[in-house]
Amino acid sequence: MKKDLINKAKIVLDGNFQEKGYSIPCKGLYPFQWKWDSGFIAIGFAHYDMDKAKQEVETLLKAQWQNGFIPHIVFHVESDTYFPGPDYHRSDLSPLSNKEYPSTGMTQPPVIGFTLEKIYNIASDKDDALKFVKKNIDKVYFNHQYFYENRDPQNEGLVFIYHNWESGTDNSPLWDDIWKTMNPPEYVFKRRDTDLVDPEQRPSKREYDHYLHIIEIAKEHNYSDEKIAELSPFLVQDPLFNTMLIKSNSSLIALYKLIGGNEDKIKQLEKWQEKSIKSFNSKLYDTELGAYIHYDLRNEKPIRFVSSSSFSPLYAGIPSKEQAKTLVNTMMSKFGDENMYLCASFDPTHERFNPKKYWRGPVWINLNWILYYGLKEYGFNEIAKRVKNDSIELIEKAGFYEYFDARKQIYKTENGGYGGNNFSWSAALLLDLINN
Ligand code: SER
Repeated sequence: MKKDLINKAKIVLDGNFQEKGYSIPCKGLYPFQWKWDSGFIAIGFAHYDMDKAKQEVETLLKAQWQNGFIPHIVFHVESDTYFPGPDYHRSDLSPLSNKEYPSTGMTQPPVIGFTLEKIYNIASDKDDALKFVKKNIDKVYFNHQYFYENRDPQNEGLVFIYHNWESGTDNSPLWDDIWKTMNPPEYVFKRRDTDLVDPEQRPSKREYDHYLHIIEIAKEHNYSDEKIAELSPFLVQDPLFNTMLIKSNSSLIALYKLIGGNEDKIKQLEKWQEKSIKSFNSKLYDTELGAYIHYDLRNEKPIRFVSSSSFSPLYAGIPSKEQAKTLVNTMMSKFGDENMYLCASFDPTHERFNPKKYWRGPVWINLNWILYYGLKEYGFNEIAKRVKNDSIELIEKAGFYEYFDARKQIYKTENGGYGGNNFSWSAALLLDLINN
């Protein structure tokens, strides 16, 4: 059974790998290279095709900008199945963009640092893997430097995101109150996603108006970070995004130590780490909720909801043992009902929870993967096992979908797999979970 699933996962991954050396997340819906997808996909490939794992990362890094920024989508090809494409995003407006690789002017969670470390750990040929790490690590360091120098205007050690698409958790209810502070025009545009996927499972047209409006403002200022920090109506410190950065910092430190030398970089990374973790715990931990929360930097107020992102700091060793216990209690009391698969993306006890709509409730395999390793790290082995088994069971039952209904009873009568099918990171991370 497991062997069969492993073979199917490899078929999905091999089918989505493109001639130019990167993977699409899935056919039709996402026809380009996405940043955080690429990291997770490379981890999957590392288990059986190191060459593809390396290409995945190196192709992404080729699209890095002159200031170290790595974009969220790299438009390697033309496609008429996706909106908004390169003509809308216009990365060429930025004087610092990479003119060879058209891209968006926004980023996504910084996963490449820990991806490099995972690849190294999985590799059987360590010399070869270290050579690969050596060749690429400075680009990732430069990317982290970009974040701390351009995305942290108050010098807190916490970087901001300026768009919900940068969070990766696109239409989470977390953002609903920010949308209320905006009143964008009713733009006229032709979406493609809702031709390919049931609109019930995708963000609404009005939400897209907001998404586009933020980009319009950024474009007006040629994607200047300084102007964005000053003017973007969306400016958030996201615990998931900052967790990925902190985890990747640790990975870079470990890898530089393996390589030897690089004392200055190690020292700088350690400085960032110390400051980031301190601010993270003082600013983003909500004692009353017993969970980490987001902070709305534009409107200067905490966003007090519990989502799967709230537990992700376990993955980077951010909470104390005591905090971790509280976090896990919160997770199990709100998300852990036996009739539900772990882990819904948004608080299932909240009125904003929607079990079918993208990041408003469904289970995502990448978040489960992050939680699995985080829980294990803190010794919550039974719950970690449940997260792993639930992830495998969902894929076995429904297929390699993009996201999944958390309600177990649904699967008796329908397929609870939603969004794109043959989705790369679901396949990649399943391989990693099974191999662990
Ligand atoms: N996930 C976004 C989309 O739905 C973009 O990153 O297109």
